[in-house]
Amino acid sequence: MTNNDMLIKLYDLEFSYDFMDQQEKMGVVIRKPIGPDQSLILAWAEQQFSAKWVGEIQRALNNSPCSCFIAQRDSLLLGIACYDATALGYFGPLGVIDNSRGLGIGRSLTMACLLNMRLSGYGYAIVGMAGNTDFYRKVANAVEIPNSNPGIYQSTMKLKS
Ligand SMILES: CC(C)(COP(=O)(O)OP(=O)(O)OC[C@H]1O[C@@H](n2cnc3c(N)ncnc32)[C@H](O)[C@@H]1OP(=O)(O)O)[C@@H](O)C(=O)NCCC(=O)NCCS
Repeated sequence: MTNNDMLIKLYDLEFSYDFMDQQEKMGVVIRKPIGPDQSLILAWAEQQFSAKWVGEIQRALNNSPCSCFIAQRDSLLLGIACYDATALGYFGPLGVIDNSRGLGIGRSLTMACLLNMRLSGYGYAIVGMAGNTDFYRKVANAVEIPNSNPGIYQSTMKLKS
């Protein structure tokens, strides 16, 4: 696996606009978070995924308007997708908790972000160091960008041990 970045042509993407209705029929609400959600989302992201995601998600939450969507059933957070979090024009992080995968939530969160990006005037979305290339190929016709690893991540810092 090369973990190259991937490119999504937002202008070419065929959106099916009923993903929110479909999720709602299964009791899952796709929405933008509001202020009171913030601390819970960050704690959840660290617990379910990784500490690295916390900074990126925080950035998406702090953008105005916020650049992420969450999936929620009752009071449970099931997933999140962000853009303009890693860097401007980048999509991700994207994550759905283990026991809620395979129900279309990942696709719906992705579509919500990509639609929001397109309607905001973006032409392309970039998936940074895409881990799940087949998922992005399937849901968004993403194509790999050759020689793009480590790409924008080449200058990330580490704490001295
Ligand atoms: C990748 C992830 C977000 C998918 O979420 P999900 O809710 O299970 O995905 P969906 O149910 O919406 O799947 C949509 C389609 O993609 C397919 N798909 C899901 N995960 C896939 C994967 N890892 N590889 C290939 N295809 C995948 C599904 O089979 C489905 O296809 P279908 O419409 O033909 O049935 C989830 O597995 C996850 O959170 N993984 C860990 C974090 C991660 O890898 N994030 C993305 C890279 S940073």
